[in-house]
Amino acid sequence: MALKQGVEVAPAAGRLGVLLPGMGAVATTFIAGVMAIRRKLAQPIGSLTEMGTIRLGKRPDNRVPAIRDYIELPTLDDLVFGGWDIFPDDAYEAAARAGVLERGVLDQLREELSAIEPMTAVFEQRFVKKLTGQHVKTGASKMALAEQLIDDIRRFKADNGCDRLVAVWCGSTEVYHQPTDVHSTLAKFEAGLHASDDNIAPSQVYAYAALKEGVPYANGAPNLSVDFPAMQELARATGTPIAGKDFKTGQTLMKTVIAPGLKARMLGLEGWYSTNILGNRDGEVLDDPESFKSKEVSKLGVLEYILQPDKYPELYKGFHHVVRINYYPPRGDNKEGWDNIDIRGWLGYPMQIKLNFLCRDSILAAPIVLDLALFMDFAKRAGMQGIQEWLSFYFKSPMTPEGLYPEHDLFIQLMKLKNTLRYVKGDELITHLGAEYYD
Ligand SMILES: NC(=O)c1ccc[n+]([C@@H]2O[C@H](COP(=O)([O-])OP(=O)(O)OC[C@H]3O[C@@H](n4cnc5c(N)ncnc54)[C@H](O)[C@@H]3O)[C@@H](O)[C@H]2O)c1
Repeated sequence: MALKQGVEVAPAAGRLGVLLPGMGAVATTFIAGVMAIRRKLAQPIGSLTEMGTIRLGKRPDNRVPAIRDYIELPTLDDLVFGGWDIFPDDAYEAAARAGVLERGVLDQLREELSAIEPMTAVFEQRFVKKLTGQHVKTGASKMALAEQLIDDIRRFKADNGCDRLVAVWCGSTEVYHQPTDVHSTLAKFEAGLHASDDNIAPSQVYAYAALKEGVPYANGAPNLSVDFPAMQELARATGTPIAGKDFKTGQTLMKTVIAPGLKARMLGLEGWYSTNILGNRDGEVLDDPESFKSKEVSKLGVLEYILQPDKYPELYKGFHHVVRINYYPPRGDNKEGWDNIDIRGWLGYPMQIKLNFLCRDSILAAPIVLDLALFMDFAKRAGMQGIQEWLSFYFKSPMTPEGLYPEHDLFIQLMKLKNTLRYVKGDELITHLGAEYYD
C-alpha cells in the first residue's frame, strides 16, 4: 500500500465527488443522510470520520483530537454525489422506494435528492439474476462500455466542479465466481475487455474505469470487483487506492466483536448458527443461490480466521458454522438476525449465547460509505496506492495481498486504522504497553 511515515498529505481543498455504482437502499440512505446532517436535521451516528477521536502521545498528555481535524478531512459540505443504476429513478424516488428513511425527512430534502439522477449502467443479468433493468448502456465490447464509464466520470467531474473523486460500489451482489486467467494480469484483462470475455463482471468494468482515471475504488459487496491481480496491477500503475469487500454491518459486525472476546478468554466453540430475515431488494437479490454464495463465502471466513482452529485445536477444531439469509418482504430493510452460539467452558461444560439483532441494514451501512469515501480520498492524498488493508475495519472479507491472511478482529482492525493515521502523520504509534507510567 506504499505507506510512508510522516508524509506530506495533499490538502483536502475543493469539492470531492462521491460516485456510487448502484443507487439503491444503501447509497440513497448515505446521500440523504449526509444532506440531513448538513442541514443539522440529524447526527452522523456510526461514522468514525465525523464522530471519532484519536489519542496522540501518552495518556496524561490529553491530546485527543477529532480524527477529522487530525487528518484534515473534507467537510460534508464539500461532497457532491453521483452514480449509476439500472433503474432510472432519481435519488428521491429510489430512497422513497427503499423505505429506509421516513418520508418526512425525505420530503425536506426532495429538491436536492431529485437532482441526483443515475447515469446509465453497465449491466448483465447473468450476474444478478433477480434484476432486469432498462437503464443500461450498450456498446460493441466491454472495453467500449468501460470507455463510456470513463466519459461519465470525466463529465461528472467537470459538470460538478470536483477537484477529486472516489467511488464506492453499492450495487447488487453479483453471482459467485472465482478469478480466472483473464483476471491474472492487466494485459489479459484488457484483452478480455476487448473480447467481451464472459468472466468479466459488470462491477469489474466500473472498477477498471475508475482505476484508469485514478479514482479510488472501494467495494461494498462480496463480489470480486477489484479483488484480483489485474486490478491490483492497475491500481499500482495509476497510484490508486483500492479496498473491499462487503460492508461489515450487522451480524458479521457482532461476530467480529464476540468471537475475539471468546478467544481472548480461551472459551471453546462448538458451533455458531446464524440466520436472518430480510425483505429489501438486497434480500431479493440474495434469494438467488448464486448471489447468496458470494455472501455466504464472505460471511463464513470470519470465524475461521479469528479463532485459528489450527493453533487451538482443543477449543476450535471442527466447529460448525452455518449462515442463512431468508428473503421475507414484510420486514423491508429492517433485518432481524438470530445467532445461537454453543460454547464450552472450564472442563468442557457447555453453555449457549443467544443473540437477536433487530437491525436496519442501510442505517448501519451508510456511515461506512461516508467513512470509506473520506478515508479513500485521504489515502490518495497521502500517496497510498493498491490494497488499503488499514480499512479492513469496514469489511466482512478484507482484501489482502496473496498469501497473507486477513485480520478480522474489530479491535485489532481499529488499532491498525488509527496507527496508520499516526504513521502517515509522523506521530508515535500507540502500543498500549504503558510501562513508562511506572518508571
Ligand atoms: N446494507 C447492508 O448492511 C450491506 C452490508 C454489506 C453489503 N451490502 C451490499 O451493498 C450492496 C447494496 O445494498 P442495498 O441494500 O443498497 O441493495 P439495493 O438492491 O437496494 O441496491 C443495489 C442497487 O444496485 C443496482 N445495480 C445492480 N447492478 C448494477 C450495475 N451493474 N450497475 C449499476 N447499478 C446496479 C440495483 O438496481 C439497485 O438499485 C449489495 O451488494 C449488498 O449486498 C449491504
